[in-house]
Amino acid sequence: MKLVQKKQVIFKSFVITISLSIVFFLTFASVQRQQRKKTVITTPPAPTGDLRIRPGYNSYEMYIQRQLDKTQNPKLRQIWMTRDWDRKINVFATFFENLKHENLLGNTSKSLCIGARVGQEVAALQRVGVADSVGIDLVPYPPLVIKGDFHDQPFDNNTFDFEFSNVFDHALYPSKFVREIERTLRPNGVCVLHVALSRRADKYSANDLYSTTPLVEMFRDSELVRVKKVDGFGLDTEVVFRKNMMKKNNRRR
Ligand SMILES: *[C@@H]1O[C@H](CO)[C@@H](O)[C@H](O)[C@H]1NC(C)=O
Ligand SMILES: *[C@@H]1O[C@H](CO)[C@@H](O)[C@H](O)[C@H]1NC(C)=O
Repeated sequence: MKLVQKKQVIFKSFVITISLSIVFFLTFASVQRQQRKKTVITTPPAPTGDLRIRPGYNSYEMYIQRQLDKTQNPKLRQIWMTRDWDRKINVFATFFENLKHENLLGNTSKSLCIGARVGQEVAALQRVGVADSVGIDLVPYPPLVIKGDFHDQPFDNNTFDFEFSNVFDHALYPSKFVREIERTLRPNGVCVLHVALSRRADKYSANDLYSTTPLVEMFRDSELVRVKKVDGFGLDTEVVFRKNMMKKNNRRR
């Protein structure tokens, strides 16, 4: 008789414990759900602009080091200078020939390629007859590419007639990247950018661009000439700007 009673007591406390646990769990889960709902509402919305800077760079030095990791990668450099060399020059030469037919580029255009790595685009410019051309990158590759940071170009104002870049996605400060192009272009000079709009560029990218609108907003001293779909080594859009003849002093910077 005693044993049965004991068993009943154990069973009772077991039932009570389980019930309490369930009640506690349900209350806890509901509080959590409410909190989660609240969090979604109270945190600021994710950036919705068409240009987003990738998170994770705590300092400019850290950003530069990451860019150097790609530019200095011996295996990549080897590929750029061998297997990639002719193939890329041919494709770049076709792009530049088309720009020449549109009178956006000429044999006498003083030209700059920004983020030129080992200088395939510089070699392509020279092949199509644009003799006075040079590239800049964090790591020099003379004579085609000299050392220079696109956030702080090593050139005087009004130096170039033509600037080309397919590394816009690597800019940590896109507006600085654009400001430097507008500073070093001569009045009426042309800037051609190859960008990725419908796909993400690579893991070394520092920004993601989803439309041409942010570019148009940043090129304040230039006019948009045209936008065209291209097949440029993972980049899908060619955007062309022409710097204004006169600096518009009444436009606020
Ligand atoms: C430009 O250079 C190319 C290649 O050297 C040459 O074939 C072409 O005739 C030149 N064009 C002009 C207008 O001088
Ligand atoms: C170069 O251009 C920048 C802005 O475009 C201007 O602030 C600066 O004063 C210019 N420098 C010279 C030496 O004219």
